[in-house]
Amino acid sequence: MAILEVKDLQAGYGKVDVLFGVSFSLEPGQSLGIVGPNGAGKSTLMKAIAGEVALKSGSVHLQGSPISGKKPEDVVRLGLSLVPEGRQIFGGLTVTENLMLGLTGRRDKASSKQALDQVRGLFPVLNTHAEYQAGMLSGGQQQQLAIARALVADPKVLLLDEPSLGLAPTVIMDVFSKLKEIIALGTSVVIVEQRAHLVTAFAEKTLIIRAGKVQATLTPEDAKDEVALRRAYFGAGA
Ligand SMILES: Nc1ncnc2c1ncn2[C@@H]1O[C@H](COP(=O)(O)OP(=O)(O)OP(=O)(O)O)[C@@H](O)[C@H]1O
Ligand SMILES: [Mg+2]
Repeated sequence: MAILEVKDLQAGYGKVDVLFGVSFSLEPGQSLGIVGPNGAGKSTLMKAIAGEVALKSGSVHLQGSPISGKKPEDVVRLGLSLVPEGRQIFGGLTVTENLMLGLTGRRDKASSKQALDQVRGLFPVLNTHAEYQAGMLSGGQQQQLAIARALVADPKVLLLDEPSLGLAPTVIMDVFSKLKEIIALGTSVVIVEQRAHLVTAFAEKTLIIRAGKVQATLTPEDAKDEVALRRAYFGAGA
């Protein structure tokens, strides 16, 4: 059974429709990439899945149970977390305080401590800089914090909206290698990414979204073919 199943999802803002029937499924232990031009609806899709934008129609199932229509905090509790575009960490709070915010919904102290220890193991900088104000961290460190904050909720599915935004190429490779570790630990991931080549090579499949619709699905094989990748991304005229 798919861990995440999105069926014919339509969503938008007020009277403006942005997504026109998006469907895909994510298998346990796998990753799915999402690429597409600015304004295509990628962030709207992430927010709609996470319960932050209402669906006009369609459905989202997590481990076979419907999550569409649920509040964002309930979606997190059920096992799906979003690392939003632009990270949105709290610069005036310490690293540890930011991490604690991700614990919302966890009940007992022991499992909270275990979750914190686990992300500090994965991202040692969050341990060495535990008492730093988050705003003082570098861009790459802030992205690690944003991912870690989502992970302490122990998600089955982690959505990442442009985790590499504003990061140097070597730091981007670090983020992707951490994602590999996270997947190996049992979390499936959806990654929105501007660098089509990078994510197509990384994920089992990658959707190209244009004007609110899935235009094509790519596999790692396609990452080797620059021309096909450009065509798929920009349309037949590219
Ligand atoms: N809060 C909002 N209210 C109204 N319209 C919005 C809102 N957020 C996004 N939109 C519109 O929805 C469309 C899709 O935006 P979205 O942010 O989902 O695109 P995107 O694919 O994530 O783009 P980018 O690559 O630039 O991040 C755009 O036309 C945008 O103007
Ligand atoms: Mg976006």
